Amino acid sequence: MFLARLIYTSEVVEGFDQADIENILKVARERNEELNVTGMLFFNSRYFLQCLEGSRSNINAIYHRILNDSRHTNPVLLDYREIIERDFSSWRMGYIAETQNTRDLYRQFSPVSDFNAYRMSGDSCYRLLKHMAVSAPKL
Ligand SMILES: Cc1cc2nc3c(=O)[nH]c(=O)nc-3n(C[C@H](O)[C@H](O)[C@H](O)COP(=O)(O)O)c2cc1C
Repeated sequence: MFLARLIYTSEVVEGFDQADIENILKVARERNEELNVTGMLFFNSRYFLQCLEGSRSNINAIYHRILNDSRHTNPVLLDYREIIERDFSSWRMGYIAETQNTRDLYRQFSPVSDFNAYRMSGDSCYRLLKHMAVSAPKL
Protein backbone atom coordinates (compact mmCIF):
# COMPACT_ATOMS: atom_id res chain seq x y z
CA MET A 1 0.00 0.00 0.00
CA PHE A 2 2.03 2.93 -1.29
CA LEU A 3 1.87 6.54 -0.20
CA ALA A 4 0.73 8.80 -3.01
CA ARG A 5 -0.22 12.41 -3.70
CA LEU A 6 -2.90 13.77 -5.99
CA ILE A 7 -3.42 17.41 -6.96
CA TYR A 8 -6.33 18.76 -8.98
CA THR A 9 -8.02 22.05 -9.70
CA SER A 10 -11.68 22.82 -10.35
CA GLU A 11 -14.08 25.73 -10.68
CA VAL A 12 -16.85 26.68 -8.31
CA VAL A 13 -20.48 26.62 -9.50
CA GLU A 14 -22.84 29.57 -9.20
CA GLY A 15 -24.58 29.97 -5.88
CA PHE A 16 -21.73 28.43 -3.88
CA ASP A 17 -21.21 30.21 -0.57
CA GLN A 18 -19.27 30.14 2.68
CA ALA A 19 -21.66 27.60 4.21
CA ASP A 20 -20.78 25.19 1.39
CA ILE A 21 -17.08 25.48 2.19
CA GLU A 22 -17.72 24.79 5.86
CA ASN A 23 -19.82 21.80 4.96
CA ILE A 24 -17.19 20.41 2.57
CA LEU A 25 -14.46 20.79 5.17
CA LYS A 26 -16.49 19.19 7.96
CA VAL A 27 -17.28 16.08 5.92
CA ALA A 28 -13.82 15.99 4.33
CA ARG A 29 -12.09 16.08 7.70
CA GLU A 30 -14.23 13.26 9.10
CA ARG A 31 -13.79 11.09 6.04
CA ASN A 32 -10.09 11.81 5.61
CA GLU A 33 -9.36 10.96 9.21
CA GLU A 34 -11.06 7.58 8.79
CA LEU A 35 -9.00 6.90 5.68
CA ASN A 36 -5.69 8.33 6.94
CA VAL A 37 -5.78 10.90 4.18
CA THR A 38 -4.26 14.34 4.72
CA GLY A 39 -4.10 17.40 2.52
CA MET A 40 -4.71 21.03 1.75
CA LEU A 41 -7.53 22.90 0.03
CA PHE A 42 -7.16 26.38 -1.42
CA PHE A 43 -10.20 28.37 -2.57
CA ASN A 44 -10.14 31.89 -3.97
CA SER A 45 -13.92 32.20 -4.49
CA ARG A 46 -13.60 31.07 -8.12
CA TYR A 47 -11.17 28.15 -8.22
CA PHE A 48 -10.28 25.23 -5.99
CA LEU A 49 -6.80 23.75 -5.75
CA GLN A 50 -6.54 20.65 -3.61
CA CYS A 51 -3.84 18.19 -2.62
CA LEU A 52 -4.68 14.75 -1.20
CA GLU A 53 -2.06 12.49 0.39
CA GLY A 54 -2.55 8.91 1.53
CA SER A 55 -2.70 5.38 0.24
CA ARG A 56 -3.15 5.10 -3.50
CA SER A 57 -6.51 3.36 -3.09
CA ASN A 58 -7.89 5.82 -0.54
CA ILE A 59 -6.99 8.99 -2.41
CA ASN A 60 -8.32 7.41 -5.57
CA ALA A 61 -11.64 6.64 -3.84
CA ILE A 62 -11.93 10.17 -2.45
CA TYR A 63 -11.01 11.75 -5.78
CA HIS A 64 -13.79 9.79 -7.48
CA ARG A 65 -16.31 11.11 -4.96
CA ILE A 66 -14.97 14.63 -5.43
CA LEU A 67 -15.29 14.33 -9.23
CA ASN A 68 -19.00 13.57 -8.82
CA ASP A 69 -19.63 16.50 -6.48
CA SER A 70 -21.99 19.03 -8.09
CA ARG A 71 -20.62 21.94 -6.02
CA HIS A 72 -17.78 22.33 -8.49
CA THR A 73 -17.08 21.73 -12.17
CA ASN A 74 -14.28 21.30 -14.76
CA PRO A 75 -12.00 19.23 -12.51
CA VAL A 76 -8.54 18.70 -13.99
CA LEU A 77 -5.96 16.33 -12.56
CA LEU A 78 -2.70 18.28 -12.25
CA ASP A 79 -0.37 15.79 -10.59
CA TYR A 80 -0.38 12.24 -9.33
CA ARG A 81 2.70 10.47 -7.96
CA GLU A 82 4.02 8.11 -5.36
CA ILE A 83 5.76 10.02 -2.57
CA ILE A 84 8.14 9.07 0.22
CA GLU A 85 6.68 11.43 2.81
CA ARG A 86 3.65 13.63 3.38
CA ASP A 87 3.88 17.42 3.35
CA PHE A 88 0.56 17.99 5.10
CA SER A 89 0.58 15.24 7.72
CA SER A 90 -0.68 17.65 10.42
CA TRP A 91 -3.86 18.47 8.48
CA ARG A 92 -6.84 16.15 7.87
CA MET A 93 -7.78 18.83 5.34
CA GLY A 94 -6.17 22.23 5.77
CA TYR A 95 -7.90 25.25 4.34
CA ILE A 96 -6.41 28.35 2.76
CA ALA A 97 -8.54 31.27 1.62
CA GLU A 98 -7.21 34.02 -0.60
CA THR A 99 -5.40 36.78 1.28
CA GLN A 100 -2.76 39.35 0.43
CA ASN A 101 -0.20 36.73 1.47
CA THR A 102 -1.46 34.23 -1.11
CA ARG A 103 -1.73 36.95 -3.80
CA ASP A 104 1.90 37.82 -3.23
CA LEU A 105 2.86 34.22 -4.07
CA TYR A 106 1.02 33.66 -7.39
CA ARG A 107 3.57 35.35 -9.61
CA GLN A 108 6.35 33.20 -8.18
CA PHE A 109 4.76 30.06 -9.67
CA SER A 110 2.72 31.32 -12.59
CA PRO A 111 3.20 33.30 -15.84
CA VAL A 112 0.37 35.62 -14.79
CA SER A 113 -0.25 37.46 -11.54
CA ASP A 114 -3.77 36.09 -10.92
CA PHE A 115 -4.42 32.62 -9.57
CA ASN A 116 -5.36 30.13 -12.29
CA ALA A 117 -4.12 26.57 -11.80
CA TYR A 118 -5.39 25.57 -15.27
CA ARG A 119 -2.43 27.55 -16.52
CA MET A 120 0.13 26.17 -14.08
CA SER A 121 2.19 22.99 -14.04
CA GLY A 122 1.47 20.35 -11.44
CA ASP A 123 4.85 21.02 -9.84
CA SER A 124 4.16 24.75 -9.59
CA CYS A 125 0.76 24.05 -8.02
CA TYR A 126 2.36 21.74 -5.48
CA ARG A 127 4.98 24.30 -4.53
CA LEU A 128 2.43 27.10 -4.32
CA LEU A 129 0.27 24.98 -2.00
CA LYS A 130 3.27 24.26 0.21
CA HIS A 131 4.10 27.94 0.50
CA MET A 132 0.49 28.95 1.18
CA ALA A 133 0.03 26.19 3.77
CA VAL A 134 2.55 27.76 6.12
CA SER A 135 -0.19 29.88 7.69
CA ALA A 136 -3.04 27.31 7.53
CA PRO A 137 -4.50 26.24 10.90
CA LYS A 138 -3.84 22.57 11.64
CA LEU A 139 -7.33 21.13 11.17
C1 LIG B 1 -13.65 21.16 -3.56
C2 LIG B 1 -14.06 19.93 -2.82
C3 LIG B 1 -13.15 19.28 -2.00
C4 LIG B 1 -13.52 18.12 -1.28
N1 LIG B 1 -12.61 17.48 -0.51
C5 LIG B 1 -12.93 16.32 0.10
C6 LIG B 1 -11.96 15.58 0.85
O1 LIG B 1 -10.80 15.98 1.02
N2 LIG B 1 -12.38 14.42 1.44
C7 LIG B 1 -13.64 13.95 1.33
O2 LIG B 1 -13.94 12.89 1.87
N3 LIG B 1 -14.58 14.64 0.65
C8 LIG B 1 -14.25 15.81 0.04
N4 LIG B 1 -15.20 16.50 -0.67
C9 LIG B 1 -16.61 16.07 -0.56
C10 LIG B 1 -16.93 14.89 -1.46
O3 LIG B 1 -17.18 15.37 -2.76
C11 LIG B 1 -18.19 14.17 -0.90
O4 LIG B 1 -19.25 15.08 -0.79
C12 LIG B 1 -17.92 13.59 0.47
O5 LIG B 1 -16.76 12.79 0.45
C13 LIG B 1 -19.09 12.74 0.98
O6 LIG B 1 -19.32 11.72 0.08
P1 LIG B 1 -20.59 10.77 0.21
O7 LIG B 1 -21.78 11.69 0.17
O8 LIG B 1 -20.48 9.86 -0.97
O9 LIG B 1 -20.43 10.09 1.53
C14 LIG B 1 -14.85 17.65 -1.38
C15 LIG B 1 -15.76 18.31 -2.21
C16 LIG B 1 -15.39 19.44 -2.92
C17 LIG B 1 -16.39 20.14 -3.80
